Amino acid sequence: MNSLFEKDEWMIIEDGFHPELNREAESIFSIGNGYMGQRANFEENYSGDSLQGSYVAGIYYPDKTRVGWWKNGYPEYFAKVLNAPKWIGIDLSVDGCTLDLAKSEIRSFRRILNMKEGYLERSFVFSPSRGKSLEIAVRRFVSMADPDLGLISYTIRPLDFNGTAEFDLYLDADVRNEDTNYGEKFWKDIYFKAEEGSGIITAKTLKTGFLVTMAMKWMLRKNGKKLIAKPLVTGRPGYVSNKLVINFSNSDEITVYKYVSVQSSLNHPGKELVSVASARAEYAMKKGFKKLFDEHKNEWKKIWETTDVHIEGDIEAQQGIRFNIFHLNQTYTGKDERLNIGPKGFTGEKYGGSTYWDTEAFALPFFLKTAPAGVARNLLIYRYKHLGKAIENGKKLGFRDGAALYPMVTMNGEECHNEWEITFEEIHRNGAIAFAIYNYIRHTGDKRYMADCGLEVLIGISRFWKQRATFSENLGKYVILGVTGPNEYENNVSNNWYTNTMAVWTLSFAIASLNELKRNNPEALKKIISKTGLKQEAEIRDWEDIIGRMHSPFDEKRKVFLQQDGFLDKELRLSASIPKRERPINQHWSWDRILRSCFIKQADVLQGLYVLEEQYDTETIKRNFDFYEPMTVHESSLSACIHSILASRIGNIKKAYELYLRTARLDLDDYNREVADGLHITSMAGTWLSIVEGFGGMRIRSDRVELSPLIPEQWRSYSFHARFRELLFEVKVTGKSVKITNLSDHWLPISIFKKSYDIKSSAKLVVKIK
Ligand code: BGC
Repeated sequence: MNSLFEKDEWMIIEDGFHPELNREAESIFSIGNGYMGQRANFEENYSGDSLQGSYVAGIYYPDKTRVGWWKNGYPEYFAKVLNAPKWIGIDLSVDGCTLDLAKSEIRSFRRILNMKEGYLERSFVFSPSRGKSLEIAVRRFVSMADPDLGLISYTIRPLDFNGTAEFDLYLDADVRNEDTNYGEKFWKDIYFKAEEGSGIITAKTLKTGFLVTMAMKWMLRKNGKKLIAKPLVTGRPGYVSNKLVINFSNSDEITVYKYVSVQSSLNHPGKELVSVASARAEYAMKKGFKKLFDEHKNEWKKIWETTDVHIEGDIEAQQGIRFNIFHLNQTYTGKDERLNIGPKGFTGEKYGGSTYWDTEAFALPFFLKTAPAGVARNLLIYRYKHLGKAIENGKKLGFRDGAALYPMVTMNGEECHNEWEITFEEIHRNGAIAFAIYNYIRHTGDKRYMADCGLEVLIGISRFWKQRATFSENLGKYVILGVTGPNEYENNVSNNWYTNTMAVWTLSFAIASLNELKRNNPEALKKIISKTGLKQEAEIRDWEDIIGRMHSPFDEKRKVFLQQDGFLDKELRLSASIPKRERPINQHWSWDRILRSCFIKQADVLQGLYVLEEQYDTETIKRNFDFYEPMTVHESSLSACIHSILASRIGNIKKAYELYLRTARLDLDDYNREVADGLHITSMAGTWLSIVEGFGGMRIRSDRVELSPLIPEQWRSYSFHARFRELLFEVKVTGKSVKITNLSDHWLPISIFKKSYDIKSSAKLVVKIK
């Protein structure tokens, strides 16, 4: 896959068709708008290998869990993001020969993802029979301006013959997920209406009962002029089609525009879906492709104006970061607090499209720094609304008195993942959710959030830590037994340093926040106390006791934190000693061998040092980095970015750059050989952080933005946009200077290389790098 795509600053280009890598390309060229998404499947039926993927945010199916040995506490189901009805369908036959890219004669194939303007384009020459050929160009987008609209323009230009083209425009709900536990179809077709010029279908998900309605309209142009054609209409439950037969002469240009509105019962009452969808498709057709496309482009322009990262001198790095920013914005727009960010976004079925700790630990810091505060706030509100379910989940596992254990994987707040070592043991996710509240407030300054929602969550999580930690008479310390840290290559360990440290941090933060509210908003605190039944004195006393006496595994000899109590009993080896043919180890070694090895899947102690960096000096970070990085195999996409940020932090720019490239082009170069399943959307946020927090050294401290930029020698310059408390600014770093432009109408408090400045609105500041 390495060299499949051309290097370009703004585009991903596949030159020549590579059917053996079609699934990979379908992931890479996916489009989305936060509301729906579509893999780069072809409009025409394709008999070759493909993962069909069309997704509507928030629509899922609770697929009953299949496990050999059921353990008490296991969730009933694993949620699956649904492959939704196919809206892109356009089949083409020319002179009776049906186009199928797996079988037809084609040449000059090119597929382009234009990240600047947010569309997918495909062009090729199709020869229906000897001596006949036509150019075909297809463009599609899902609108950023009107999120329910998906649009396609499909153009044919015969090169050297006269003939007949038949376009079959259809909507089809006969779709399946590849990933099902029982091979079932998840949709039931309940409505259709096919007329000349339009078609509508409604399908309903089994069990969850979500309704999705799609309405299509079309328009035809020949040589730029509107063409009236009478279609052949077909309809049956779950399927509608309009077939158009058009005669063409040599060099005619014929374009079919397909306008589709996708509506779901998440946003409208079921009874209204058909009328809303058909009115919206009608609106789209009347407005026309060009105008809708212009509005869509304009939305992307606005996004890029405030989120672009520009790198001079390194096209691979440039393409990589734009690819990441592009997909993150396609996945989440922050308009709907019921939605979240699946690790694969809208690009595949893996991970079920559900929410993981990835959101708080990786995606949230990205959105905090690139989008208005409301976007990140909605991510927090999502968890706030799930607090009741997190408490229920705690209860199910035997906790009580309002102890909240957020799920490792969820759609609606219920746990829906069942590997015991993850579901029951990867409890560190609770720490990430608590830290997200702190992170949100320090970035946005929205202190009200604590009183409105944050403290309730912190109380629930603190209660969980209190009950999950037990006192060891032997050590005279609190311990947290039987956990899995972020490094999933060790299970059921005792005292994972990261987990224990995050537990202590949460308890301290909860107490500090309670005290602050007591001082500043006693009325709000009273309400929270009555809602949560907090026994202030007794519970805080317990929390303080744990804070003071939590066990923190440490190696006195090396002066490093220990990943867990037994880590030093392992044979310590460098990952460089693993033969190349055995990498990734998760595809070559038995699970047993992995678990007993010292090899680390992803940042674990280092994750903690990244999150709580303020508490540790550079020497400590360096010692731990030098100890753990050589044992880390980075077989989770979430790893290299954190290591890269820390490498920058300790001044190891060479390593930081090496790790950066790995994270930035993880999918484009398919490092982990799994792009076919979808893209690593949440790790893309980590990539952005490797530039901004890593090379740029951006931190928020004491109500001020801090920067201490470095620049990799491969780059002439780089610049990025970031936000702090609704202030937008741009940072440009060259080998010689740092330039900050305040793009807001308020002064920006900043410190560069530890010296403070207040930059006036619209002003620039240049600081020399020594
Ligand atoms: C990682 C987890 C992560 C999940 C989803 C796993 O491979 O180990 O930390 O939450 O992928 O991205």
